[in-house]
Amino acid sequence: METQQSLLLIFLVFLFVESIYGSGHDECSPTFCSLTGPQIRFPFRLRGRQPSHCGFPGFDLSCNKKNQTLFTLPSNHSLVVNHISYASQVISIDPDFCRIERIRDITLAGTPFDFSIEDRYTFVNCSSQVSEFSFQTMPLWFPCLGSVNHSVFAVRTDWIPIGDIPESCENIKTVSVPVRRFDDIRRQLTLMWFRPYCRPCELDGTTCGLKNDDGETACFGSSSDGIPRGTKYGLSIGIGVPALVCIIGIICYISGRARNYNHRQRQSIDLFSIAITPQPPTTTGLDGPTIASYPKTVLGESCRLAKDDGTCPICLSDYKPKEEVRTIPECNHYFHAECIDEWLKLNATCPICRNSPETSSLVTPCSSMSSNSSNTTTQS
Ligand SMILES: *[C@@H]1O[C@H](CO)[C@@H](O)[C@H](O)[C@H]1NC(C)=O
Ligand SMILES: *[C@@H]1O[C@H](CO)[C@@H](O)[C@H](O)[C@H]1NC(C)=O
Repeated sequence: METQQSLLLIFLVFLFVESIYGSGHDECSPTFCSLTGPQIRFPFRLRGRQPSHCGFPGFDLSCNKKNQTLFTLPSNHSLVVNHISYASQVISIDPDFCRIERIRDITLAGTPFDFSIEDRYTFVNCSSQVSEFSFQTMPLWFPCLGSVNHSVFAVRTDWIPIGDIPESCENIKTVSVPVRRFDDIRRQLTLMWFRPYCRPCELDGTTCGLKNDDGETACFGSSSDGIPRGTKYGLSIGIGVPALVCIIGIICYISGRARNYNHRQRQSIDLFSIAITPQPPTTTGLDGPTIASYPKTVLGESCRLAKDDGTCPICLSDYKPKEEVRTIPECNHYFHAECIDEWLKLNATCPICRNSPETSSLVTPCSSMSSNSSNTTTQS
């Protein structure tokens, strides 16, 4: 009996020490490549410095020798990460077109990032007499690629009217680039991710992390950023030591009577194993026909949406005439159709109010356009 008790005691002390130092020294806590670089935390992780469970598959970052944060595409092409917005689930990367050998296609296939329009740009090398105004549609001027005697421009290929490129210009290359509306490819590309969905944790100030090996995520803890680590240790020792003493006392008392309760223990083990039977996984998104049944409308020329501020809350770009918007019934929130469709495939709830939509009611987003259960074009 005595050895049994002392073994238990050693085990409990071990658990206690482990709980303070194991979780206190958190290998997954936010990190950086440099103090000016973006914060790296779940779903991202720093490869080589943090174990894989700290991040979500596909979100590995690394640091280069200049302490810049890098994301490596499946093509082995590394791009510098300028900024990560965890609440908007957006990552900004530098396409790095200021070095002639780096002007190449950027493809997102095989990455967790999506939601971009793929634009094709043709880079041209012109004599220095040619300016932006020599083109019918304004090109992007890349001073970083030119010199005294020549200038380099990028023209959006699907915008080039026939004969628009001045004769003295020479084609360098045509590349495809994933852009969100109005990204300036000289500065950055902004890419979005939808899974994992950590926005609720970000807004609550809690920590998003993996819940299980199936890639489900959950919010953990309360906002820990304001509490210094020393205080946390102090708290855990102050509360932990008396609690430990109590637990040891209770365990000693119970183990003294353990034999009398053998059959009961067996019963409780059975109950326990029933309680932890895993639940079947559930899918959370909606199917295509359900999504298509939500009201979709094409914006008219002068149409303004009634209550939203003119910006799609998902891709954060403004509504433009002729764009398709979709409404979620019940909550009357509007989104670009392409944005909300992607969203609803993964999540069955409205991204703003998290209501579960129902297909029953139809809404008219604004008076100058009509909306039916599917595509309706309006002129205003
Ligand atoms: C542009 O053309 C000039 C002269 O033809 C050449 O010296 C220069 O290297 C070219 N620049 C690029 C970026 O191709
Ligand atoms: C620019 O052109 C002038 C005259 O054609 C030439 O002397 C000069 O070396 C050129 N400069 C560069 C940087 O190519």
